[in-house]
Amino acid sequence: MRKEELKFAAEEYRMIGLILGTRPEIVKMSPVIRECERRGLDYFILHTGQHYSYEMDRLFFEELEIPDPDYNLDVGSGTHADQTAKIMTGVEDVLRRESPNIVLVQGDTNTVMAGALAASKLHIRVGHIEAGLRSFNRRMPEEINRIVTDHISDYLFAPTESARENLLAEGIADEKVCVTGNTVVDAVYQNLEIARRRTSIFRDLDLEPREYFLVTAHRQENVDDRARLKEILKGLAEVQREFSLPVVFPVHPRTEKRIKELGIGVDGLNLTRPFGFLEFLHLESQAKLVLTDSGGVQEETCVLGVPCATMRYETERPETLDVGSNILVGADAERILEGVRSAVTRTHSWKNPYGDGIAGKMIVMVCAATRSQ
Ligand code: UD1
Ligand code: UDP
Repeated sequence: MRKEELKFAAEEYRMIGLILGTRPEIVKMSPVIRECERRGLDYFILHTGQHYSYEMDRLFFEELEIPDPDYNLDVGSGTHADQTAKIMTGVEDVLRRESPNIVLVQGDTNTVMAGALAASKLHIRVGHIEAGLRSFNRRMPEEINRIVTDHISDYLFAPTESARENLLAEGIADEKVCVTGNTVVDAVYQNLEIARRRTSIFRDLDLEPREYFLVTAHRQENVDDRARLKEILKGLAEVQREFSLPVVFPVHPRTEKRIKELGIGVDGLNLTRPFGFLEFLHLESQAKLVLTDSGGVQEETCVLGVPCATMRYETERPETLDVGSNILVGADAERILEGVRSAVTRTHSWKNPYGDGIAGKMIVMVCAATRSQ
């Protein structure tokens, strides 16, 4: 980090409020939580309850060995407006009570935007972790969340230089931006060995390293559209037929609901419950290739040296395309198959563009800088 970037910790550190609510936020906030613990800082965890099923929520706290949330708003599922409104009301109550002087949010979910908005209206400084990502597709709810959050945040923790450039291009002041790398790297480094030691997923699923494909899909624009979801499942079935290898697909609850509602066939695919982070990380690290529409999975595969085919038409993670770990294969069966054919032949020697695994430390250092000086 550049020395002058520390200048934006202007006020005296009092307490940090960490707001999270979904699976990826628990994973990517975990290095920050660990660092707050290590330094013995005053902080609290506010869980919005956007994700609440055991395997999307609780399991991650257990596996990552992070403290239970101090608050859980239990907002649950709903329309965007309904969920956003409930989160804002609940966050406001807690922030009034705790009075932190900085709130950290991570990523691009409704939890992030609503949490940041509630905090900024109370004149509490907001730090946005993973700031500056842009897909340039405003039909994605996440793109709206990112833009709003970045523009009301006081500290923008950008994972890469290109994320910083996106922020500057929108007129955000450079002194608010700090390039830290992505906390996903910290989470991968902190858990990969543990995942290898503790999980028996290969035995459980009867898999051989590099002899299976791993899939995730949950983006609203992919799975809430019947034709698009059908096309994705068709493409995955064709991959299974052509390579005669298992296609392991832990199904996100949104996708499970849609597959049932729409009565779509899933022949040839090995559909499972969502895995915990340790099982998933272990599977990811040994996959022949991962097919996904997840943001975190595009990054993790890049860090792990595993090729990725992203079932979307654009990505806010262009670094993965630049280094050659990831290709965009859209949501078209033929393109998915062709993309997999070309991606499996790639060498795995790219350089991880997301940092050294110390993003969590850097972020906490900035937030608590005045105390340690
Ligand atoms: C949310 C985020 C998305 C993120 C994803 C991570 C928004 C707009 N979307 O999408 O950016 O990539 O989390 O996984 O914030 N459900 C359960 N149990 C749960 C959670 C959800 O059954 O614990 C089901 C419900 O039927 C719900 C549906 O999944 O309606 C969608 O959940 P929601 O949180 O609205 O959006 P996600 O698709 O999970
Ligand atoms: N993940 C997991 N189990 C699964 C699928 C994903 O632990 O069955 C983890 C994955 O390793 C990554 C995170 O969930 O850390 C990504 O979450 P998701 O794809 O739901 O959200 P996104 O990253 O797209 O916002």
